[in-house]
Amino acid sequence: MDQLKIEGGRPLKGSIRISGAKNAALPVIAATILTGGWFHINNCPRLRDIDTFLKLLKELGIEVIDGTDDDDRCLEIDSSGLSNHEAAYELVRTMRASVLVLGPLVARMGKARISLPGGCAIGARPIDLHLKGLEKMGARLKLKEGYVEASASRLKGAEIYFDTPTVTGTENLMMAATIAKGASVLKNAAREPEVVTLGEMLNHMGARIRGLGTPTITIEGVNELRPAAWRIIPDRIEAGTYMMAVGAAGGEITINDAHAEHLQAVIAKLKCAGLQIEEAGPNLFIRKKGRLQSVDIKTLPYPGFPTDLQAQMMTLMATAEGLSVITETIFENRFMHVAEIRRLGADIKVEGRSAIVRGVNGLKGAPVMATDLRASASLVLAGLAAKGMTTISRVYHLDRGYEAMEKKLAAAGARIAREKTETPY
Ligand code: UD1
Repeated sequence: MDQLKIEGGRPLKGSIRISGAKNAALPVIAATILTGGWFHINNCPRLRDIDTFLKLLKELGIEVIDGTDDDDRCLEIDSSGLSNHEAAYELVRTMRASVLVLGPLVARMGKARISLPGGCAIGARPIDLHLKGLEKMGARLKLKEGYVEASASRLKGAEIYFDTPTVTGTENLMMAATIAKGASVLKNAAREPEVVTLGEMLNHMGARIRGLGTPTITIEGVNELRPAAWRIIPDRIEAGTYMMAVGAAGGEITINDAHAEHLQAVIAKLKCAGLQIEEAGPNLFIRKKGRLQSVDIKTLPYPGFPTDLQAQMMTLMATAEGLSVITETIFENRFMHVAEIRRLGADIKVEGRSAIVRGVNGLKGAPVMATDLRASASLVLAGLAAKGMTTISRVYHLDRGYEAMEKKLAAAGARIAREKTETPY
């Protein structure tokens, strides 16, 4: 198992390039199931979750060529040989987003057998809204031995209302609706940039989708789609994390290939806290001068403050001047990082869905353990801020969603290194 060692207290300097977004790449790859022929996907991040998803595609009988173009990861994918319709427990268990194959499989093959994801570190995270939507489109559903079995000769368009905006739920049903018979309307749909870019790609493949980026998405079903070339958008969560890394470590960096328009809520909060941020085309310049001020945060669906940056923001608030209330409204158990950040001397109290963070003068390095993907990023930031050595174990969580994080930070002046350990965790 790998661990990260960080010697904190060194300001950052230089530039960091943002990779393609994991949460955009996964649904874009799932969309290749909808039609045979070669797709060309570039700017794909090198991440464990992407590797897991490609493994699943191969198990479905899909051909994948994983290549490089100018240091860019490029995928060539052809699902002409699609022959299997099952996503097994072993894969879904390690990555919930495997459920993204459900909609495309039922739409194209008329059947799918997908393991139910079960609970995860950050809450129950059911898929009931995905299933209700498919049922409304005419799919027959059976729950058997921990699997959901869906079948339909051809899905038909339907009006679907989401009780809560769900990102992968919207993506699943939008994909399914593209080749259903008739029109579908998704109401209270997710508006995340990852949903929008997927919809744009589907339109490029011949789908007829309107209302992307709004709560009402209309899809006119077509008989057939065609393959396409697509570029993955930059990862707004990775960009936000590096902006906050400057807040933690101090210094100034340029973040290359960040879409500032996808980060408006985050930029507004960080500016309020006292970070200097300048937008220059696709780049962002970040500088920290003096101690940050506490701000309150409430996570919300896009365009609100993203839950995937809540843990990292909490690390910043741990050393800011004043008191900050951080409220998590998306997931019910997303404060696993609190106990770990406390080990470095932070003063944080959890009350229900809020964490009350009283800024302290500084953190001190300690051994900590990563508990989930974004929690591990918050610990890296805490390590950068803390005096002395912080050792983070279980960094496989980080590798699911951050490409070469320690290399990017080290190139910007951080003292951070990966080490192999004898211990199995
Ligand atoms: C996606 C992102 C994840 C991010 C999350 C919220 C991907 C691969 N993952 O996850 O990084 O943290 O959005 O921005 O894109 N819900 C239900 N029933 C459902 C589906 C969802 O009750 O059928 C609830 C969830 O429990 C949660 C809320 O809806 O409370 C939002 O979850 P959702 O948007 O579905 O998250 P994911 O798509 O799994």
